Amino acid sequence: MKLAQRSVVLCAACGLLVAVPRCRVATADAHAAAARGRAHLLERAYLPPDFDQEVFDAVWTTWEEPLRSLAERASLAERRRLAMERYGLLPRPDDPSRPLQYVVDGQGRWTMNCLACHQGQVRGMAIPGVPNSTYALETLTEEVRAVKVRQRKPLAHLDVGSMMLPLGSTVGTTNAVIFGVALMRHRDADLAIVRRPPRFDLPHHDMDAPAWWHYARRRSLYADGFAPKGHRMLMQFLLVEQNGPEKFRDWEAEFRDIEAWIAALEPPAWPHAVDAGLAARGAEVYRATCVECHGTPGRGGHYPERLVPIGEVGTDRARLDSLTAAERGALNDSWFGRFGADAASLPDRVEPVGYVAPPLDGVWASAPYFHNGAVPTLWHVLHPAERPVVWRRTTTGYDDARVGLDVEEFAELPAAKLRPAERRRYFDTRKPGKAAAGHDFAEVLDADEKRAVLEYLKTL
Ligand code: HEC
Ligand code: HEC
Repeated sequence: MKLAQRSVVLCAACGLLVAVPRCRVATADAHAAAARGRAHLLERAYLPPDFDQEVFDAVWTTWEEPLRSLAERASLAERRRLAMERYGLLPRPDDPSRPLQYVVDGQGRWTMNCLACHQGQVRGMAIPGVPNSTYALETLTEEVRAVKVRQRKPLAHLDVGSMMLPLGSTVGTTNAVIFGVALMRHRDADLAIVRRPPRFDLPHHDMDAPAWWHYARRRSLYADGFAPKGHRMLMQFLLVEQNGPEKFRDWEAEFRDIEAWIAALEPPAWPHAVDAGLAARGAEVYRATCVECHGTPGRGGHYPERLVPIGEVGTDRARLDSLTAAERGALNDSWFGRFGADAASLPDRVEPVGYVAPPLDGVWASAPYFHNGAVPTLWHVLHPAERPVVWRRTTTGYDDARVGLDVEEFAELPAAKLRPAERRRYFDTRKPGKAAAGHDFAEVLDADEKRAVLEYLKTL
């Protein structure tokens, strides 16, 4: 992992990577809490282990050619690097044999952490809080399971879970919302385990995780903004049956620290020069066309957190329709939402009618765009008619001109039958939950205004 020399520094006090040459975490206590939170994310295994080092070191045996032969000839360290790249894992700066996205303990057991989906890279450079747009959870799980069967090792929760529900049909997106629904079904409001028959009609759909640096600016969480902010809400990911209700109480203090770290994250600065004149014209276009929904940038800016009806925004509606009022209510009325007390501040969100317009701070770094990650660059956000039907990103390529992922565009999937690992690299916007339609708000702009607003978006 490389850090940009110019714009990213490591705060010595809280271990936060900050995109400005000074840390904005104000007090010593806040520094200490954020530093503890970061350490918990990297070192605490809150779930049962997913697999062990012996399994990970053998996953290459399941790969297609020519990658398999390449791995066979490679050194152990190089093989691990290839495996991490295949699954979208980033080496830790202090120990490149371990990834940021899994806790690896002294016995070589690997356990997924929050960073699996919430710590990605831009141009191969790890940026705290940037969504992981290369995470290949389903492929990793399938290949790990094949190795475990061969090594006669017991299957873990995800190995079994993925036989009942899809984990994510494209690289970089996951079915995370439905994991939550499936797990919450077996809990009461106090999080005690209640056995209910599994549901087979769950509305599976893939989501692109949002950038964590928005956390400080938002009151509510998620694409439809139905959940109030709070450290308890962040703990839903721990709902596997091995974690009984007492675990949530025990870990609550650690999640206050994790929340402190997330809330301290700053958006990264665009790493190149900006055409200041063009950006200034873009700022005017933004004020006239975009600000009413997205607000003004920065912590001191005005952020309206507007919920935009689905008919007006027109993006894919699978996420909106996937939760019922009863499911939203059950989460908010449980221990996670302090039994309804937290949601009292969000009366309009019991049955949201659309999606919240997110803040656009650091938006250059969080491609692909929209809640389902269907649109690869900001240029494509501004040019709805030019959005690709099918696209595939290059491994870690970045498109400086169109601002976003470097992609190949296709009118169709390849005719040849693809192996699942390869098929998941193609984002097919015709599939359910994956539409790239909508958000036509830039259609009123001419070509020059679009160019100007694109330049301005780099500065946020
Ligand atoms: C399997 C992938 C995955 C993992 C692991 C994961 N998340 Fe998320 N997270 C998501 C997705 C996808 C969303 C968006 C959900 C939505 O909008 O409905 C999300 C949303 C969030 C948000 C809301 C952000 C916003 O602006 O709305 C926060 C905060 C968050 N996650 C924190 C965490 C924490 C803390 C953990 C670990 C305890 C975690 N997540 C683990 C995928 C994941
Ligand atoms: C009527 C309200 C509204 C207006 C006006 C509007 N937007 Fe949006 N915008 C939204 C909503 C809602 C979303 C979230 C859509 C989703 O995720 O499905 C969004 C999403 C986006 C995203 C993707 C963010 C991400 O992280 O995925 C970008 C970029 C964006 N808007 C830019 C703009 C620009 C530039 C303008 C002005 C030309 C603009 N928007 C005007 C409501 C609006």
